[in-house]
Amino acid sequence: MPEPLKLWRNAKLATCDERARCLERGALLTRGARIEWVGDEAALPAAAAALAPAQVHDLEGAWVTPGLIDCHTHLVFAGTRAAEYAQRLRGRSYEEIARSGGGILATMRAVRAASAAQLFDESAPRLAALLAEGVTTIEIKSGYGLTLADEAKMLRVARELGRAFPVTVRTTLLAAHTLPPEYAGRPDAYIDDIVREWLPALKAEGLVDAVDVFCERIAFSVDQAQRLFVAAGALGLPVKAHAEQLSNQGASLLAARHRALSSDHLEYAGAAEAAALAAAGSVAVLLPVAFYCLGDSQRPPIQALRAANTALAVASDCNPGSAPGTSLLLAMSMATRLFGLTSEEALLGVTRHAAQALGLGAERGSLAAGQAADFVVWNVRSPEELGYWIGFNPRRSVIRAAEVQRWPNTNP
Ligand code: NIG
Ligand code: FE
Repeated sequence: MPEPLKLWRNAKLATCDERARCLERGALLTRGARIEWVGDEAALPAAAAALAPAQVHDLEGAWVTPGLIDCHTHLVFAGTRAAEYAQRLRGRSYEEIARSGGGILATMRAVRAASAAQLFDESAPRLAALLAEGVTTIEIKSGYGLTLADEAKMLRVARELGRAFPVTVRTTLLAAHTLPPEYAGRPDAYIDDIVREWLPALKAEGLVDAVDVFCERIAFSVDQAQRLFVAAGALGLPVKAHAEQLSNQGASLLAARHRALSSDHLEYAGAAEAAALAAAGSVAVLLPVAFYCLGDSQRPPIQALRAANTALAVASDCNPGSAPGTSLLLAMSMATRLFGLTSEEALLGVTRHAAQALGLGAERGSLAAGQAADFVVWNVRSPEELGYWIGFNPRRSVIRAAEVQRWPNTNP
């Protein structure tokens, strides 16, 4: 049977394609789960005229964007770190807390103690909150298990969330998040085990779409990251890095040498990093919620990134330590106000450029023929409202794989 054709008409389209066009009298034709045609309604292909009324959706002049993409999250975790936040409010730093055995290690203990079912149940409401804002694709990292079995548990829960909810999940192995106690004083042995045993095993189970590393004084060195990247490359897996968040370790330059999908955070990066990322086609992923929540003052080098023409993405970084947030719209607001992105940059940052940061640019992130039929209909007067409201969600409806989602679709 040929796949059904559907018409979505009477829409204002923020295409987020290479030309970032806005069509004030636009329409979309979808076939099966893909977009077949996008353009002015006046130029609709003839096939559209023959469609039965049930196949035609009148979007009543509303604005439509591609489904939003949250390209950097640690959404699967157990417990909270509210007590650490309270300590930070009293002046203790994130680094100090990490060095004294808290931070990522505190969440590691909670994740190791949790069953897969508990992890799923704690993570599901966070995912539901993101989906309510029109997120249709999300990246979820491991990195709080730090044993082979517990990293696998996290990644399986991430995959399970993707089956239970109307969302595309990309998984990233972040075993190199911090050094677990079993390897105290032996970071190279830890990297060796990830490279030799964990990575091949987890990949063989279909649990890894990309490999990430936290390069930092309190985490891993550039040499260790390089060994991980070489191993990932040998398995055909793309890489990315938590880079230059608290200090400049040279992680972005390394990431660029390995043609990383993205280099993320970048508060301590500069013009050299911006140019290297642009030349490598790596996306700069900005995480303003972490900047906000850590009370940072060092901003990523936005002017240099712009000057180098580096693609800019914006993500929630949802995690229990530095960014306990489940709002991509709020991340857009913070990216504009705190980092100085324009409204257009923020929107491309959660659509086209976010797709690129996940290696999905050819199939997601814009309204164009051949792309997934994932889009969001908004109650806004202009797309600028998407990074403007603070804590208000103007989503009207979400269409995923050309199906209008039942709403509220906050339960699997
Ligand atoms: O993206 N920087 C390292 N990883 C996370 C924080 C993880 C945590 O504190 O639990 C981040 O900010
Ligand atoms: Fe992160």
